[in-house]
Amino acid sequence: MSKSTQDYVNCDVKNVWHHLTLHQGNAPMIVTEGKGLYIKDINGKEYLDATSGGVWCVNVGYGRERIANAVAEQLKKLPFYAASCGTLPGIDFSEKLLSLMPGMSRVYISNSGSEANEKAYKMVRQISQLKHGGKKYKIIYRNRDYHGTTITTLSSCGQEERREHYGPFTPGFVEFPACLEYRSPYPEGTPDLGEKFARELETVVQKEDPDTVGAVILEPITAGGGIIVPPDGYFETISEICRKYGLLLIIDEVVCGLGRTGKWFGYQHFNVKPDIVTMAKGVASAYMPISCTVTTEEVFNDLQAGGDKLGYFRDISTFGGCVAAPAAALENIKIIEEENLLENVTAMGDYLQEGLRGLLSHPNVGDVRGKGLLQGIEFVEDKASKKHLPEEKVIAICGAMAKRGVIVGRTNRSFAGRNNIINVAPAYTISRSEVDVIVKTMDEAIREVLG
Ligand SMILES: Cc1ncc(COP(=O)(O)O)c(C=O)c1O
Repeated sequence: MSKSTQDYVNCDVKNVWHHLTLHQGNAPMIVTEGKGLYIKDINGKEYLDATSGGVWCVNVGYGRERIANAVAEQLKKLPFYAASCGTLPGIDFSEKLLSLMPGMSRVYISNSGSEANEKAYKMVRQISQLKHGGKKYKIIYRNRDYHGTTITTLSSCGQEERREHYGPFTPGFVEFPACLEYRSPYPEGTPDLGEKFARELETVVQKEDPDTVGAVILEPITAGGGIIVPPDGYFETISEICRKYGLLLIIDEVVCGLGRTGKWFGYQHFNVKPDIVTMAKGVASAYMPISCTVTTEEVFNDLQAGGDKLGYFRDISTFGGCVAAPAAALENIKIIEEENLLENVTAMGDYLQEGLRGLLSHPNVGDVRGKGLLQGIEFVEDKASKKHLPEEKVIAICGAMAKRGVIVGRTNRSFAGRNNIINVAPAYTISRSEVDVIVKTMDEAIREVLG
């Protein structure tokens, strides 16, 4: 006999260990199906999912038969072979991906964003061993950025609430300040703000001793840490500092990669040449788990330098050999190209930001910021003090939106007492009328919760 809805709810509560929940306080949501931008829960209620799967990854929307068919065909032909060998989808996907990333040269496939970043860190450490006598081992990360959930990626996490309770951490990771203009320590109207924020990296590198620093890792636009677009000139100065001190620049495109901000990669908005680029969530629009660590030819060669026994990258990821994943990723890229989705991300992103800016008339909406379909709304107690609106109220706004059939995300378990930012990141196919629904629903929810 099949389970009733209530049986499923009971079983879920009893047996399933949920990850960070998006809307605490509500009964557990059980999602059963999706089509385009919409999902249905176990009670048949439909929602416009403005989170692309809760964590910004079902970028081309739900129900894409082309991807499902590509996966099914590949599984029938060859489901798996260890990635120490080549496979046809792996070859085709890597060639296509590199064509979207001028200057980048080699694709290393694994499964998750955390894993892709771990590979990047291992590369930095190995190059330090092979070229710098092990001295250039430190990796600098930025406050508010997130790079993953393993102990070592948490060692490079700029969100204190995510790190709490998991130390001691891997040595050799050092933080430098975030570049959030809305809460800038510099006076309003400070010229060259981007450069000033970036110089904070130089201060830390000098303090640590440049001979001991091997790399810096940055999200191109901070995502989970509150949607932070760096001010003009930021990345140019970061690049200059990297060149000056011989640092590898790792760009974490786990959220922004594959079109989320209107270009194939977030770093392509800026004048910057990364040495290593990592990506995950949207690589196959989450139809299959796949992540990539992409390097320049120079990084690839440096891993083979020295002629000693470490002269190759000693890393293997079993599920990097799941062949249907690159097949899904290739189909995903074709969909984005054929449906001109980058153009839609830019146009709808601008329209969404304009709509959300209309909400700045609320006394508690302090800032609206973002790029493409990655937009954030920062809530405050009042605009003068910019004191963070208590988290319970932000949760209540999300809940009031969900009640009206629209799901949005928020900074969650990131900054104790400062989780005050709602994010909106729908699938790339969104239309103007659907943007209108999101903005109108948020307006109503703010009024309901905050009066
Ligand atoms: C910028 C960034 N990097 C890395 C990760 C880790 O990815 P994963 O959860 O696939 O390990 C995330 C996850 O949210 C992320 O937002």
